[in-house]
Amino acid sequence: MLVAWILSLLNPAPLRLRRRGYVRESGLLHARARRCRGAWAPHLARARAAVTGAVAACGRRRLAVVLGSGLLDDVPLHALAAAFDAVHLVDAVHPWPTRIAVWAHPNVVLATAEISAGLADEVLRAACAGADLVVSANLLSQLPILPVDAYEARGGEAPPRLGSDIVAAHLAALDAVAARGARVCLITDTVQREEDRAGRVTDTLDLLHGVPLPAPAAAWDWEIAPFGEAARHRRLIHRVHAYPDWGAARGQG
Ligand SMILES: C[S@@+](CC[C@H](N)C(=O)[O-])C[C@H]1O[C@@H](n2cnc3c(N)ncnc32)[C@H](O)[C@@H]1O
Repeated sequence: MLVAWILSLLNPAPLRLRRRGYVRESGLLHARARRCRGAWAPHLARARAAVTGAVAACGRRRLAVVLGSGLLDDVPLHALAAAFDAVHLVDAVHPWPTRIAVWAHPNVVLATAEISAGLADEVLRAACAGADLVVSANLLSQLPILPVDAYEARGGEAPPRLGSDIVAAHLAALDAVAARGARVCLITDTVQREEDRAGRVTDTLDLLHGVPLPAPAAAWDWEIAPFGEAARHRRLIHRVHAYPDWGAARGQG
């Protein structure tokens, strides 16, 4: 908690996004990613491999855009920077490790923006204009969290369809990007399951609020909270889907 709090103070972000909780979330993610480094390693390697595959399949390589770039743990920055004329990293918060990593790559630009805050998602469309490759990097399931929390923090309840509308809007925006010829690589966690030490599933949670996805090109388990992280005798596992060619998966290919 202390590490997350210190990181929240240090990470630069516009006041509006800080007030909405993005900087705090980024600090919590950073601290957990470092605590769970070993457990997360297989997931991060598979996610990076999915992006690398999308890069290899990309014919035109002027601009690559990464949505939800965060700590760049699941983003092969060097491969992207070497393959494309320009790389734009889009996130509400660019933590210091990311700011330092991009110094070595003059063709990498940081864009600070809140994606999918409005359902028409003008931010995403503007960020992706002219892109040859767009990567949505473990972002989709995160999008509804703070908007839904904001209602609950005021003692109310979020509109029942808010989460699913946000998820559907992000997918629709990716559809539009793919439809105009860019390659879209979507990596997202989909379902959380809680397991006890005997391997019994004790709870599940749909991270995409009921929005269905097509069959993935690859899928794997991400042990996001090993035993002792969230609870002593429970662990949390997320099922991750990877679509190195989202347009083809949606039947646009
Ligand atoms: C689970 S992390 C993704 C992992 C990230 N690719 C990495 O390697 O660290 C989700 C990221 O999405 C960002 N994020 C969540 N909601 C967002 C939003 N509405 N707009 C922009 N970024 C958002 C967070 O700041 C965080 O960096």
